[in-house]
Amino acid sequence: MPMLVSEIDCPEIGDFRIGAGPDTRDLVAPLAAQSWIVKMPFGYILTRHDDCIAVLKDKRWHQATRLLSQMTPVDNERYQNRQNRQSILTMEGDEHTRLRRLVASAFTPKAANRLRPFMREVINELLDPVTASGECEFVSAVCEPYPIPIICELLGAPRKDWEQFSRWATSIFKIFSDRVPEYADEIMDASEEIDAYVLDLIEQRRGDPRDDLLSDLIAAEEAGEKLSPTELVMMVEAVILAGTDTTRNQLGCAIATFADHPDQWAALANDPNLAARATEESFRYLGAIRGTGRFAAEEIEYRDVVFPKGTLVFPNFVGANHDIDQFSCPHEFDIEAERSGASHLTIGIGSHYCLGANLARAELQEALTICAQRMPNLRLDGEITWKPDGIGIWGPAELPLRFDPT
Ligand code: HEM
Repeated sequence: MPMLVSEIDCPEIGDFRIGAGPDTRDLVAPLAAQSWIVKMPFGYILTRHDDCIAVLKDKRWHQATRLLSQMTPVDNERYQNRQNRQSILTMEGDEHTRLRRLVASAFTPKAANRLRPFMREVINELLDPVTASGECEFVSAVCEPYPIPIICELLGAPRKDWEQFSRWATSIFKIFSDRVPEYADEIMDASEEIDAYVLDLIEQRRGDPRDDLLSDLIAAEEAGEKLSPTELVMMVEAVILAGTDTTRNQLGCAIATFADHPDQWAALANDPNLAARATEESFRYLGAIRGTGRFAAEEIEYRDVVFPKGTLVFPNFVGANHDIDQFSCPHEFDIEAERSGASHLTIGIGSHYCLGANLARAELQEALTICAQRMPNLRLDGEITWKPDGIGIWGPAELPLRFDPT
């Protein structure tokens, strides 16, 4: 007989954030050993790989970002109006499927691969000033600046505008801070400036298509359908928002992990063919996105449990990525190990699976390969400062490193 989720016997925790720090796996593992589901103040955490996948692949569960932002209202009309705008992440059903279909051709491995030489150029330019000294604070020297030129190049934004993009992105990312009301006007100014900029760039590309994402998106067409101007702006902004802070934090997480695993770093430096495995293992072992949220769009029965409409669940990627039933020795970081067929969830799964996955993989593979060669004997030069726990994107705030000068 199915039971209501509120009535099931499961562990309960009072203050647990799915974005919690590098020790999250030590918190989640014992919970996962006890139960596949854990109660928390405003929903339920899913601790295991299978259940996270089942929920993320079930279209009756909808992405919860908008619902979560409505739970902490900000008293700023401009900000609230913008929160009500659609984004690819908050769309569901046929509308979402149509959009994904239309933009798919712009995000293929081939599209990502054409940027690999440029990625190498960017990472080498960032490393040039630091490799001779053999020390650096890696987040400000490399992680922060790395994704911006790549996203600008991907979109086809002129080089002179890169600084501006960086400033807009920094302001807009304040939506993930715990002081949103204070930043609401700054966030809105940056968002409106980006809107105007992107509309202008679209107009330019319409008459002068090039080999870039914006031209691909303008041309994207299936069965006579095209992206509307509003959809185009939304897609470009989704790429800027979803494609910069994620990559920089994941690179920071990966380098922090390697600094603690010198044998793995040396293995990668000796064999660049390990780059793809190194990237996947870094995603799995210490992911910059620690989980996501879904709400039941209708009453859902799963595992003999009834989830009433509106129930919030949080698939926990840390638990899933360290699930002992899916990965052998999950708490070990090993880029040479033959892992089972299971895949990590750091770039999602199901209908909202990361649209930029090919690009993110290429960016990390190129950066890790070059860093391993140019920063031999990598080690920490003091304590890592981690970003505060939270639901958003997470990684090191400061990563002091030493290595042999090259
Ligand atoms: C290391 C870097 C990245 C990580 C860890 C990451 C992770 C994710 C995850 C977990 C999701 C799914 C969220 C959910 O199901 O609730 C997602 C969605 C998305 N990502 Fe990424 N991402 C990364 C890089 C990128 C890049 C470089 C781009 C753009 C070029 C991008 C664009 C997107 C978009 C547009 C979505 C929404 C897709 C949809 O709702 O259909 N991401 N990403």
